[in-house]
Amino acid sequence: MASLKPLELRWGIIATGRISRDFVLDLLVDPKTRDVHDVSHKVTAVGSRSTEKAQEFIDQYVKDGAVKAYGSYEGVYDDPNVDAIYIGTPHTHHYTNARDGILAGKHVLCEKPVTCNAAELKSLVALAQERKVFFMEALWTRFQPLTREVRRIADSGVLGEPVLMHADLAFDADIENIPKTHRMLDPQLGGGALLDLGPYPTIWAIVGLYEHPSNKLAQPSAVTAAMVKTPITGVDSATSWTVSFSNGDFAAHANLSVSMVIPSNEPGVTIRYRKGVIKVASPIFCPKSFTVQYFNEKGKVYKEETRVYEYVGSGWHFQADEVARCVRDGKLQSDLWGWDKSILEMTVFDEVRRQGGYVLPPGVEKVQ
Ligand SMILES: NC(=O)c1ccc[n+]([C@@H]2O[C@H](COP(=O)([O-])OP(=O)(O)OC[C@H]3O[C@@H](n4cnc5c(N)ncnc54)[C@H](OP(=O)(O)O)[C@@H]3O)[C@@H](O)[C@H]2O)c1
Repeated sequence: MASLKPLELRWGIIATGRISRDFVLDLLVDPKTRDVHDVSHKVTAVGSRSTEKAQEFIDQYVKDGAVKAYGSYEGVYDDPNVDAIYIGTPHTHHYTNARDGILAGKHVLCEKPVTCNAAELKSLVALAQERKVFFMEALWTRFQPLTREVRRIADSGVLGEPVLMHADLAFDADIENIPKTHRMLDPQLGGGALLDLGPYPTIWAIVGLYEHPSNKLAQPSAVTAAMVKTPITGVDSATSWTVSFSNGDFAAHANLSVSMVIPSNEPGVTIRYRKGVIKVASPIFCPKSFTVQYFNEKGKVYKEETRVYEYVGSGWHFQADEVARCVRDGKLQSDLWGWDKSILEMTVFDEVRRQGGYVLPPGVEKVQ
């Protein structure tokens, strides 16, 4: 019997910054190197605020003369040879870019944080449903094989219920020496540690607690937060927050933190269950190993296992495979990182910003 031809998803890239480069380089990795045979990817258009930059990006990274360079994002939205767009602009542009893409009938994969607030996100979800296009936040960690294995072990019940977890992501962004207009510092671009780094501790809280079968997908019962703001521009340089889940007999909470003034912590994630611990190595956005410790009745470790992951590419391609499969199957959202999870994330961020007193400048939030 002849084998089915894999679906080839044709991508249009919105913006030519750092993450667009990383994503595109992974799109170009042969899917067979990660044992993927049912979908593949092709970059057909790149949009930038300048045609020269778009062409330079194509010449440098895509290296395919057939790819169209546009000096506007609209060119990509209107290109009939584009099935899905990837949005790699700063946070505060995501809502408008995603909305324009959806209105043009494109499937959308949008960088994290998917929007500035939950209201913007809910508005995009409604639009994607109305226009019947796939829409997802690019929370790439959720699709990596390591994360799926952590979920499988937790779901098996061998460790019992989770009770407490910690997740931290930090890096030194050198904020004293970068321009105030840099997206990490500029409030107009949603600067600060929470919106940039916060999606990663949050994704682990969602994997570890929200998705745990005992939680039955109940929403968090409480969020408490503290922020340290930099005097340079007033955005948060470090934020800590706790997300509690309480559903019947199930009660657990996640202590989460981010900072853009210190290096990262090790391990990045610790999920403590009644009968063991899972420790995920840093960096928590793309960890390459995790360790499971199993406890005996006295709470002592009787077995420890470490798993290490290697693959060709940098880990962004797994989410691209998910988009292609969902589009192929006519799904509007992913089962692994569906709208409920992004909405939970953005709702928690809204509350953390409220408690921390971080108000975005007028006009930045397009929906409130
Ligand atoms: N998933 C991940 O691991 C990861 C990693 C880093 C960043 N991100 C996310 O990706 C997004 C972009 O981050 P990045 O590090 O790639 O940023 P970046 O290097 O500054 O690139 C952003 C690009 O957006 C376009 N742009 C449009 N309006 C802009 C404006 N007013 N100011 C600056 N750039 C503007 C520019 O491209 P053109 O000039 O070509 O239009 C620019 O090159 C952020 O939301 C961030 O959270 C995700």
